Amino acid sequence: MNDYSGKNYSVWQTTQLQKQEFEKLSPKEQLIHLCLTAHLAPSSHNTQPWRFMINSDQAEITINIDKEFILPASDVNGRQAIISIGCALANLKVAAKNFGYQVEATILNNDKQIFKPIEKHTGLIPIIKIKVSPTALTENLADIYQAIFERKVTRAEYLENSELPTKLLEYINSLSNNQIKIHLVSDILRRLTISEFQGQADNFVINSKKFSRELGEWLLPNNTTSHVGMPGINFGLSDEEANRLHQGLKGDIPLNPADGLKFSTGGKIGIEKSPTICFLTAADDTIENWIATGEIVENIFLKLTANGIMFTMHAGITEVSLINKLFSMSFLGTSRKILSLFRMGYAKRKEDGDRPHSPRLPLDKVIINY
Ligand SMILES: Cc1cc2nc3c(=O)[nH]c(=O)nc-3n(C[C@H](O)[C@H](O)[C@H](O)COP(=O)(O)O)c2cc1C
Repeated sequence: MNDYSGKNYSVWQTTQLQKQEFEKLSPKEQLIHLCLTAHLAPSSHNTQPWRFMINSDQAEITINIDKEFILPASDVNGRQAIISIGCALANLKVAAKNFGYQVEATILNNDKQIFKPIEKHTGLIPIIKIKVSPTALTENLADIYQAIFERKVTRAEYLENSELPTKLLEYINSLSNNQIKIHLVSDILRRLTISEFQGQADNFVINSKKFSRELGEWLLPNNTTSHVGMPGINFGLSDEEANRLHQGLKGDIPLNPADGLKFSTGGKIGIEKSPTICFLTAADDTIENWIATGEIVENIFLKLTANGIMFTMHAGITEVSLINKLFSMSFLGTSRKILSLFRMGYAKRKEDGDRPHSPRLPLDKVIINY
């Protein structure tokens, strides 16, 4: 029996701070706490590609991407890693705002070529500079700050007929801007269409040797001591199923057809049966828009968490480029690019909601000058 309380889960135990407690910290400790909140963000395959450099004299943090953690099979453009960086930025901004600080973020590198993954490529690429300064503007974000510590992806079946509150859907819609458009889909016909596209994307992925081997490296046994990657329990897999799928995807043992099928139909059925699907599109497939997408997505996830609503991301439609094109042409009638897709709903089974968090690296491994 795994208890998921090993060292690889320990950052989740960090105490949340009250505003007065934050104010008592030294400037360096304050920046460390902000980096911690960023580190709890979601990331593709739980790679946690962010590496923070703190400059407490200037109240600045530089976020770098560790190139080793841009995945060459599933993330050929580095888009998923950079969306993950946007998610981390959202957490940091929420925490800072909650403590009465504002964050000015500047993108340091928007050359897409630099982020294309190459096997065995290592090194840090600075991507965002953050300047933190006090602000008189106060906003009560206590529940959203708390959600940073509670948020997790729950890949499970949701209650198909339990609709999300209208006010919440209106809030999500309101996050659209000039560049990024939010699309909410709740009717069964369009959900079915999306689930078909997702099924195609998942099939493509599971049948691609390169992709499935990479997934096997990151989908781990439940008793893993790894600080990165996804234990099978986060997919609702038993210890045996997780071991088999880990080894089967890696190619160490034959992939059990039932496991493969369960995995690839999981996404399709999950989408079909979720009350609402959300996807984000942009006219331009730029680094700026990838970061902005990550920010919006994580802001939505925090709001959902604060409201007891679960969500699961599905990057297949985004990253299998033919499916992405077909989807936007047939579904939207435009050539806008889909940058993120996720489903939302209430857990059908309570135990799915009680699953553990995913592992995280220790803080001193992601803050390079800790
Ligand atoms: C950009 C991005 C893409 C993701 N794509 C998928 C996906 O295709 N399928 C999936 O099951 N989870 C996906 N996830 C969820 C991550 O696997 C998850 O965030 C990570 O394992 C950490 O777990 P946590 O979010 O519960 O802390 C994605 C997350 C991000 C940020």
